[in-house]
Amino acid sequence: MGLFDRFKSKPRTEPVIEPLDLGLVGVDMHSHLLFGIDDGATTIEDSLLLIEELMKLGYKKFITTPHIFRDLYLNSPETIFPPLEKVKRAIKEKGWDIEIHSAAEYYLDEHFEELIEKKDLLTFGNNYVLFEYSFDEEPASSKRAIFNLQLNGYKPILAHPERYAFMHDKFSRYEELADRDVYLQLNINSLHGHYGPEVKKISEKLIDAGIISFLGTDCHHLGHLELTKQVRTNEHLRKLVESGKLKNHEL
Ligand SMILES: [Fe+2]
Repeated sequence: MGLFDRFKSKPRTEPVIEPLDLGLVGVDMHSHLLFGIDDGATTIEDSLLLIEELMKLGYKKFITTPHIFRDLYLNSPETIFPPLEKVKRAIKEKGWDIEIHSAAEYYLDEHFEELIEKKDLLTFGNNYVLFEYSFDEEPASSKRAIFNLQLNGYKPILAHPERYAFMHDKFSRYEELADRDVYLQLNINSLHGHYGPEVKKISEKLIDAGIISFLGTDCHHLGHLELTKQVRTNEHLRKLVESGKLKNHEL
């Protein structure tokens, strides 16, 4: 064996990490795939392109979650179900073997609290409700809203807790929420660093603490998809998916 052959057979210094099949996550339960009703997909072609790309990553079932936010996206079943039906029809015509349903991502505002009182929320799975906080500060109404959700038989899921900077130095708040049966949903792209290094760090800490119950793409556009493709080799993502803690499969 000559010097050149020996050089060729030298093992790679960087191990090759295979991208994770996101079908292993189960159902994607946080996305903005319905066209024209929030800051996600804008046209039906856009919706179908995002769905097709997510299918390529392994997802087979979607519970998409348009924003319901009084001041920005005042959605309701009346605005959500027509585009959902159109997307479903197009999927059938294409012969894609996937399922899509819709619930919502509720912003914690007065409108949400009124809907809780009226028991008029869009749910999925075992009466789960996805909701989000303001990014500026923990809403004063958060404890009351969570209490009323649970009192009315809903199971609250807090969307992307890792993105709320006001909680980053109060890690016990995350643990308190989990202890009170508020399920925590991590955005897959948070592990990429898309929302900044602090968000990435907290995401890893939440996974290490074993308190993440759901994983979502929160996919709005192709830019998000590109990051999701890249993050598939992330070690904490693999750890979370293999932890057995995720409930996405139950949906
Ligand atoms: Fe979202």
